[in-house]
This record gives sequence, C-alpha cells and structure tokens, in this order.
Amino acid sequence: MTSKLLWVSFILAALILSVTFSLQPDQQKVLLVSFDGFRWDYLYRVPTPHFHYVMKYGVHVKQVTNIFITKTYPNHYTLVTGLFAENHGIVANDMFDPILNKSFSLDNMTIYDSEFWEEATPIWITNQRAGHSSGAAMWPGTDVKIHNSFPTHYMPYNESVSFEDRVAKIIEWFTSKEPINLGLLYWEDPDDMGHNVGPESPLMGPVISDIDNKLGYLIQMLKKAKLWNVLNLIITSDHGMTQCSEERIIELDEYLDKDHYVLIDQSPVAAILPKEGKFDEVYEALAHAHPNLTVYKREELPERWHYKYNRRIQPIIAVADDGWYILQNKSDNFLLGNHGYDNALADMHPVFLAHGPAFRKNFTQEAMSSTDLYPLLCHLLNITGMSHNGSFRNVQDLLRSTSPGALPPTPGPTLLHGSVKPGDDESEESYAYFLGVSLGSILVIVFFVIFIKHLIRSQIPALPDVQAEIAQPLLQA
Ligand SMILES: *[C@@H]1O[C@H](CO)[C@@H](O)[C@H](O)[C@H]1NC(C)=O
Ligand SMILES: *[C@@H]1O[C@H](CO)[C@@H](O)[C@H](O)[C@H]1NC(C)=O
Ligand SMILES: *[C@@H]1O[C@H](CO)[C@@H](O)[C@H](O)[C@H]1NC(C)=O
Ligand SMILES: *[C@@H]1O[C@H](CO)[C@@H](O)[C@H](O)[C@H]1NC(C)=O
Ligand SMILES: *[C@@H]1O[C@H](CO)[C@@H](O)[C@H](O)[C@H]1NC(C)=O
Ligand SMILES: *[C@@H]1O[C@H](CO)[C@@H](O)[C@H](O)[C@H]1NC(C)=O
Ligand SMILES: *[C@@H]1O[C@H](CO)[C@@H](O)[C@H](O)[C@H]1NC(C)=O
Ligand SMILES: *[C@@H]1O[C@H](CO)[C@@H](O)[C@H](O)[C@H]1NC(C)=O
Ligand SMILES: [Zn+2]
Repeated sequence: MTSKLLWVSFILAALILSVTFSLQPDQQKVLLVSFDGFRWDYLYRVPTPHFHYVMKYGVHVKQVTNIFITKTYPNHYTLVTGLFAENHGIVANDMFDPILNKSFSLDNMTIYDSEFWEEATPIWITNQRAGHSSGAAMWPGTDVKIHNSFPTHYMPYNESVSFEDRVAKIIEWFTSKEPINLGLLYWEDPDDMGHNVGPESPLMGPVISDIDNKLGYLIQMLKKAKLWNVLNLIITSDHGMTQCSEERIIELDEYLDKDHYVLIDQSPVAAILPKEGKFDEVYEALAHAHPNLTVYKREELPERWHYKYNRRIQPIIAVADDGWYILQNKSDNFLLGNHGYDNALADMHPVFLAHGPAFRKNFTQEAMSSTDLYPLLCHLLNITGMSHNGSFRNVQDLLRSTSPGALPPTPGPTLLHGSVKPGDDESEESYAYFLGVSLGSILVIVFFVIFIKHLIRSQIPALPDVQAEIAQPLLQA
C-alpha cells in the first residue's frame, strides 16, 4: 500500500516538475532598443517611471563609454559589432573613401552603398548564419544589404512610421510561427529635439516624458503578447548631447582658404581633406588657430580614441571642445545641441538598462563600454561572435547565471523581499511556473516523508553509512 502511494506521488512530482521546466523557453530572445541621443542622465531630469520600473526589476549601468566619434552611425554599428570605428569602418555620418572614391552621407542615398558596411559583420547576420531569425524596425544599417544579406525581417527606413507601428512589427515577428530570437528597434528622439532646442532647454522635459511613455507602451505591448517575462529587453542609445551656443562658434573660413581643402565632416569633429600639395599649408593655418580647437594629423590622434587606422579617417582631424561648434562659414546651419565630441565627456554617454529572464533584478553597475554589449548579445543568443573590441567579463555581473539559456536559480530576489505590490505587473511572472514548482515540491516532500517513515519502520541498517558519507564533505570544508 505505502510503496504504491510512494511511486504514484514520485512519478506525479517528476512529471509536474519536468512539464514546468519544459514550458520555459529553451531559446533566449533579445530585443535591443535604441532611443537616439538619450543621454544617461535624462533618467533624472523629469519623472521617468517606466525607465525606473525597468531598473527596479532589471539592471542599470550608470556610465557607458561609447566610441569616438560620438555620432549616430558609428555608434549604432559599434553596438551590433563590438568594434571601434576604425575597425568597423563607419567612422562618421559623413565620409569619403579615397580608394572607393565614394562619399557616404545621410543627405542622400549613399548610405545604402554596401561597400561602406562590409569591413564588419553585424550581429543580425551572424545570428542568421547560426540558423536563427532576426527582425529590425529602422535600426541604422538594417535596410542595407551587407555581405549579401538583410535581416530576416526589416522595415525600409522611413522616419514617418510611428513608434506604435514599429513595435507592432517587432511583436509580430517575435510571435510568428517561425519567431525571431533577435529584434532591433530604433526611434529618432530625443536626438532630433536635443539638436533643435539644446539638452539644457526646459523644452526637453516633455520630450523625455514622451520617450518614457513610449517605453511604457512597449512594455504594455510585450506583456499583452506574453513576451515580457521571456524576452531580454535592452534599452540603450548611441550617444548623449551637449548644449551649444552662438557664442561658441569656430569659423573655418576665418583661418583657411576654401579652395585648399574639402570639408568631409563638419562639427564637432571636422574631417579635412587638403587638396593636392596643400597639406602643410592647411595644417599650419589651423593648428593654433583657436584655443578650443585641437588639430591632429591622422597619425597623431590619441590612441584612446581607436580612431586612426582607417583610410576613411581624413588626413587632418580638428576636434572642438565640449559645447563649441565648428562651421565653415557663420552663415551655415547651426544647432543648439550637438554630439560627436570626445567620448570621455560624460555628456556624450548613453543610457543603458536591461530586463528579462537572463538579467538580475534591481542591480546597478558603475561602468561598461559600448563595445561590451556585443559579447553580451552573443552570449544571450548563444551564438559565436566575430572578433571584437569588447569584454564579456565587463558585463557578466549583469546576468543571473553565466551559462547561456540557463534557468534562473530562484524566482528572483524581489519576490523574497516581498516587494511586489498587487497590481504591480511583475507579479505576473509566470503564474503557471510557480504553481508547477510548488505542486511538484509539495509532492516531493510528501514522497520523502513517506519514504523516511517507510525506512524507519523497516529498520534498514544502511542508514548510518549514508549519514557518514553526507558528513564527509563538511569535514573537508
Ligand atoms: C572619383 O570620382 C569622381 C566623380 O565622382 C571623378 O570625377 C574622379 O575622376 C574620380 N577619381 C578617380 C581617381 O577615379
Ligand atoms: C551626397 O551628398 C554629399 C554632401 O551633401 C555630396 O557631396 C555628394 O555629391 C552627394 N552624392 C550624390 C551621389 O548625390
Ligand atoms: C512613410 O511612412 C508614412 C507613414 O506610415 C507613409 O505615409 C509614407 O507613404 C511612407 N513613405 C514611404 C516612402 O514609404
Ligand atoms: C561667408 O559666407 C558669406 C555668404 O556666402 C560670404 O559673403 C562671406 O564672405 C563668407 N565669410 C568668409 C569669412 O569667407
Ligand atoms: C576653451 O578655451 C579656453 C582657453 O584655453 C579654456 O579656458 C576653456 O576651458 C575652453 N573651453 C572648453 C569647453 O574646454
Ligand atoms: C533595490 O536596491 C536598493 C539598494 O541597492 C534598495 O535600497 C532597494 O530597496 C531595492 N529595491 C527593491 C524593490 O528591491
Ligand atoms: C579591435 O578588434 C579588431 C578585430 O578583432 C582588432 O583587429 C583590433 O586590433 C582591435 N583593437 C584594439 C585596440 O584592440
Ligand atoms: C547553444 O548552442 C549549442 C550549439 O551551438 C547547443 O548545443 C546548445 O544546446 C545551445 N544552448 C542553449 C541553452 O540553447
Ligand atoms: Zn544627432
């Protein structure tokens, strides 16, 4: 009688536990979101409850050192390759390649020229080569054919497409019959408004609130699609923003003859290509022209920028001090906010938060580099990355466990703290999962109680030996 009950309860327990665990995703999903130009400290400018919700139930890195130059295309390509600009080849938003004899510019369709992108292989391609699917909603470079591939799903770039429509596509791809495991989502603000009004303007408050609401919308849609607890969400950006002023303009026309050079990229890092035979003249004229402009020959650029060994970096690079603006002529277009400056400046640093089954909860880390995101993504996706300039060690503390696809060891510290309020949606954390674990555990306990009773009744003499064996490791400790 007892042994029959014993076996029935044991089998039931085993069944429930195994069903519960197999319900968990065996393949990790990652959604990488970039809010262009979201400076790290915008989190504290106005109330940002949705960003803080992600921080409370996820991780936050306070200072992320991005790459020089702190512009949009170079940094977005770093996030998906782990490489410095000199290594991935997208060295600026406006470039000239003297071997290809071609320009790359946002102002016309030349960014679609594959050759500019092919010094590196972005993660969506590596992910697809490993047999997975990727989906991209407007992430820079995802509608360009690179090494003969596009993302499995992507949206051709169109800045008029709403955030809601981009989110809808991402969710559709994650929940389709052949789901993606990697999603990339891009939004143009707060960069656009940061340029127009300047980051210190009170007009930035509503812009940051709007981004927080957009994040809230994304979270709501992920919950509705039952993705919130199974997907690893990473929220970051490419760079920050600094306040400029018409009082701080450096006008190249004051120092240089327009006919002696071509200005490939303007501010705050002027990329100067001197005309044939004019190098020395241009360099000498500019070198000590302005106290807030540091002028380098390409070979003399500081090592820490990793911005030297690429033919798309022009022979003369002039870098403005924080908040100073380079114009060829004062009548040229000026913006109240800008970025691109030295990546050591805190104002240039982006935000970084993450939430999901792989991440710890309510955990803050001081610092990382934006190149470290790539090995983190490869780890989460369980793919072998290309060689890169990041370090997985710099980000592994963000994770609950360092084995890819591993299950969380506990339901999570916030539940132990008892901090989950009713209506706080984090409590939705897989109800079925906890039910299964609790039922299974109760049955296992019942099984052991009966088993021990059975042992005591039948007076098996082997018991002392078992105890001796258990005691041994303790003696060695
Ligand atoms: C580079 O392209 C331009 C047209 O864009 C052409 O005029 C010039 O001759 C080309 N230079 C070389 C070296 O091929
Ligand atoms: C693209 O724009 C740049 C700068 O605006 C210009 O110099 C270049 O000639 C343009 N290229 C084409 C193909 O239109
Ligand atoms: C861009 O998106 C808007 C809004 O969805 C749409 O009206 C417009 O036709 C699109 N433009 C192109 C070129 O597809
Ligand atoms: C700046 O541009 C204006 C208008 O094109 C021109 O008249 C002026 O001479 C330029 N300034 C310099 C210093 O070249
Ligand atoms: C601009 O140059 C002046 C003179 O060297 C210096 O005092 C000031 O700190 C510089 N501004 C910035 C933002 O570095
Ligand atoms: C998060 O951690 C901080 C300290 O690191 C602690 O003060 C706070 O109570 C924690 N919040 C939750 C919800 O656990
Ligand atoms: C960055 O990574 C690339 C590719 O592995 C490598 O060639 C380059 O030397 C690295 N740069 C640095 C500064 O380590
Ligand atoms: C990771 O990928 C390897 C094959 O590359 C596979 O054997 C392993 O099961 C995967 N791990 C997880 C947790 O998916
Ligand atoms: Zn910008």
